[in-house]
Amino acid sequence: ASELTILGIESSCDETAAAVVRARAEGGVARGPGQILSNAVFGQEDLHAAFGGVVPEIAARAHAERLDLVVRRALEEAGIGLGAVDAVAVTSGPGLIGGVLSGVMAAKGIALGAGKPLIGVNHLEGHALTPRLSDGVDYPYLLLLASGGHCQLIAVERLGSYLRLGSTIDDAPGEAFDKVAKMLGLGFPGGPEVERRAAEGDAARFEFPRPLMDRPGADMSFSGLKTAVLRARDRLAEGQGGLYRRDVADLCAGFQAAVAEVLASKAARAMRAFRDRYPGLAQPVIALAGGVAANTSLRAGLDAAARAEGFAAIAPPLRLCTDNAAMIAWAGAEHLLAGEHPGAVSARPRWPLD
Ligand code: KG4
Ligand code: ZN
Repeated sequence: ASELTILGIESSCDETAAAVVRARAEGGVARGPGQILSNAVFGQEDLHAAFGGVVPEIAARAHAERLDLVVRRALEEAGIGLGAVDAVAVTSGPGLIGGVLSGVMAAKGIALGAGKPLIGVNHLEGHALTPRLSDGVDYPYLLLLASGGHCQLIAVERLGSYLRLGSTIDDAPGEAFDKVAKMLGLGFPGGPEVERRAAEGDAARFEFPRPLMDRPGADMSFSGLKTAVLRARDRLAEGQGGLYRRDVADLCAGFQAAVAEVLASKAARAMRAFRDRYPGLAQPVIALAGGVAANTSLRAGLDAAARAEGFAAIAPPLRLCTDNAAMIAWAGAEHLLAGEHPGAVSARPRWPLD
């Protein structure tokens, strides 16, 4: 077929999501942008907030409880029944295994009941292909995926061919934002609140490290940065008996500036490596994905780096950058439109892209 309507299901972390996406192909290659008929997401932040992070057992139970509802919502919003869907795509890894299993089992039931093919999708591939769904970006392009669980600079060469140019060697940047928020008593998820506090702060007051900056390559590290913030916090608290609002703002601003600089400079290195690999591209593209892409100052840093390197920077709308099922439906559609036959679907806690 050269046009497909796909139901996507995602439950690998703390969003229970379902979406209906229509995709078409030319010459066996999907052509974006896709038509998003619905994109339903039930978040779980409220369930995990008290624990300062995602609790796998609670996440799995919430997914199991709400997967049927979110699928119903997605079909309703799309205004179609299951009969009008050509196939079901589900995240089958990587992720928290309880959530992945819940989604896979729900999808198997739906596909079996409706007599539709089922395709298992790699969650990271969903993120990687999002710029094609949202903006119709052509292969090849460079992707920076920065979320609570991942940090990778990937050359997306073609469907199924992903070359990792750099990745974090410890924490993901979103994880670092969340941990810094926790140590400053700012709640979960921490990214948005750290960004708000940073806006009132002085980024120059604390000198935080820029890890791995002097090393060649595009690998990143954020764990030492997090520890440096912790030490600065303890020094202040000891010296003056507590933290003032001003201190929290300055710590957030200093931390955020360090993350922005590391991401921008490592992304610039990846852009150079990408250009060496594809010297003939008239307008190379770097696209952002992952929840951390919401951060305005990180975006600004990346935009500046892209301009300096002659790249166009593309940031899909935030609801497609954070975890969602439209990206899973799209990735499934790309595989099916390329003529692949769906095989057995099993849940995989680990599943690297390359
Ligand atoms: O992609 P995402 O929704 O979920 C996964 O991790 O897969 O990303 C969530 C992460 C959290 O760690 C959150 O703190 C971070 O993205 N985040 C931000 C901002 N908004 C969300 N980090 C920095 N600045 C933000 N404005
Ligand atoms: Zn994700």
